[in-house]
Amino acid sequence: MQTDVLLGLQWGDEGKGKIVDVLTSNYDIIARFQGGPNAGHTLEFDGIKHVLHTIPSGIFHKGSINIIGNGVVIDPIIFENEIKSIDKLDMKISELLIAKKAHLILPTHKLLDAASEQAKGKNKIGSTLKGIGPTYMDKTGRNGLRVGDISAANFKDRYDKLKQKHIQILNFYDFDYEIWDLEEKWFASLETLKKFQHIESEHYLHKALKEGKKILAEGAQGTLLDIDFGSYPFVTSSNTITAGACTGLGISPNKIKDVFGIFKAYCTRVGSGPFPTELFDEVGKHMQKVGNEFGATTGRPRRCGWIDLPALKYAINVNGVTQLMMMKGDVISGLDKIKVCTHYHFNGEKINYLPFEANDGLIPIFEELPGWQEDLMQLQDLSDAPQSFHDYIRYLEKELETPISIVSVGPDRKQTFFR
Ligand code: IMP
Repeated sequence: MQTDVLLGLQWGDEGKGKIVDVLTSNYDIIARFQGGPNAGHTLEFDGIKHVLHTIPSGIFHKGSINIIGNGVVIDPIIFENEIKSIDKLDMKISELLIAKKAHLILPTHKLLDAASEQAKGKNKIGSTLKGIGPTYMDKTGRNGLRVGDISAANFKDRYDKLKQKHIQILNFYDFDYEIWDLEEKWFASLETLKKFQHIESEHYLHKALKEGKKILAEGAQGTLLDIDFGSYPFVTSSNTITAGACTGLGISPNKIKDVFGIFKAYCTRVGSGPFPTELFDEVGKHMQKVGNEFGATTGRPRRCGWIDLPALKYAINVNGVTQLMMMKGDVISGLDKIKVCTHYHFNGEKINYLPFEANDGLIPIFEELPGWQEDLMQLQDLSDAPQSFHDYIRYLEKELETPISIVSVGPDRKQTFFR
């Protein structure tokens, strides 16, 4: 009986999609447990580059079963577009099942997201404008519509009632909108959603576990965007941490074995909020350019900076990470020095943890390590990597007290090394 969890330890975009794709052959079931189309999981294989938003990253592996769990929020229009773009690849895809308890993103949820961001002005969250926050608000407010409701006779009435409530809220904002076109598309796209099998994912997964199947729970966003433990209010609206896999799929904590924590060899953030190690210099530009740090969902440039150990240690603890996976090692090649934030200056003190007041200007304290010049993307074998790169990996492992089991040095499946 085994469920492993794979999630991001920073502010998202760590490269989770790639690792799920690499690990899929070890699992029978890949299940997304939270978030929605705010995510953009990029996969690259056989010269194809493909971005998934709602669909689990195991979809291109024959034989695996992919589940969109109850903790996920689904925009039927985006889902339909995802299915269309997969169809265009003309590849055989694996089975996709959708939890009846997953909530639906309505057109008015997107409008509310945009209106709320506009009203916040310079304090905006920098949301992806996909309607994520308002949809989770309706979920916890007990007003939401779920995938299992689509076929109910009173679905349209319930939709209209919720829409009216949203329109009343929109009237409070000074916000222009047009809904009719969106609404027509939304109802049409429900037909695509209906074509897939809708399941009670908790029953399905309990049975699978009893039969000895292996499940990989796939997270979205990152730990520092978690609604409870992230840099609130600059966070997303779901639990991105390991506990979210339990509530987002209906699996109990004692069924979870390994927790794979994915992090970049440096750090990025898209949207607003604190980022203590952010760089505004040539090195930051180097990371952005070489790492192609532009959002897979919104195209926005990502803010870049050095790796932040107190934040990573925090993420390892709240998730119970058993194995680390370091991504994009190639991006910090060609730099003379690699900096690592080991502590912060805060209120005149030197601290090595992330405090509640993390939004109030933590000043990073760095240690410097030697860089390397070699192009790691050409590596055929990790043992051929320069000594400084090995030293960087070992330094991180020692500081983080957790083994780094995978090192990735490029976007392709082949540029992934197991240690
Ligand atoms: P929301 O999830 O669209 O409400 O956005 C809230 C915050 O999370 C914003 O700062 C977004 O940029 C950020 N965010 C949401 N999804 C992702 C993601 O998949 N990767 C990186 N940042 C994300």
